[in-house]
Amino acid sequence: MTKVQLNYFDDTQTERTLIDEEVPFPEGKLIVSRTDTKGNITHCNQAFVEMSGFEMGELIGKPHHILRHPDMPSVAFKDLWDTVSQGTKWRGYVKNLRKDGTFYWVYAVVVPNVRDGKVVGFASVRRKPSRTKVNESAELYKTMLAEEKKA
Ligand SMILES: Cc1cc2nc3c(=O)[nH]c(=O)nc-3n(C[C@H](O)[C@H](O)[C@H](O)COP(=O)(O)O)c2cc1C
Repeated sequence: MTKVQLNYFDDTQTERTLIDEEVPFPEGKLIVSRTDTKGNITHCNQAFVEMSGFEMGELIGKPHHILRHPDMPSVAFKDLWDTVSQGTKWRGYVKNLRKDGTFYWVYAVVVPNVRDGKVVGFASVRRKPSRTKVNESAELYKTMLAEEKKA
């Protein structure tokens, strides 16, 4: 178990525990959340609550980076935001941090929520990722993160 300080894009910081232990994605379930245009969680389903390890009340209104794992390179989220802000669907593999410090991998599809031609928020639907893709993504993210740390 290690303690790390996480620095977010909005200049806030928090101290979190990291435990190098994966929690398997629940079979046959979808993990769903919706956010406002800034990425604050407005809705989430029971599978989201169970996998994140947070209570529903600890999630609603909070920035989605509450799940950010420090093994994820910033460029992955930049790509997500650039894509969905343009009104386009983003798909990708994400390693998420649970409240207790353990982690889980998802395959996420993030879509803009458009009303009257205006983006009013975003939604993400996550399914179980294949092991091959998780292994490939973990390698890729390690390389990307090393590049980011050099810069
Ligand atoms: C609909 C939606 C779902 C998101 N889901 C996640 C997620 O599951 N895990 C995560 O780390 N970031 C997720 N993000 C991205 C976060 O908003 C954020 O960009 C990311 O955690 C990196 O944090 P930072 O931008 O503060 O550095 C999501 C964003 C949107 C719009």
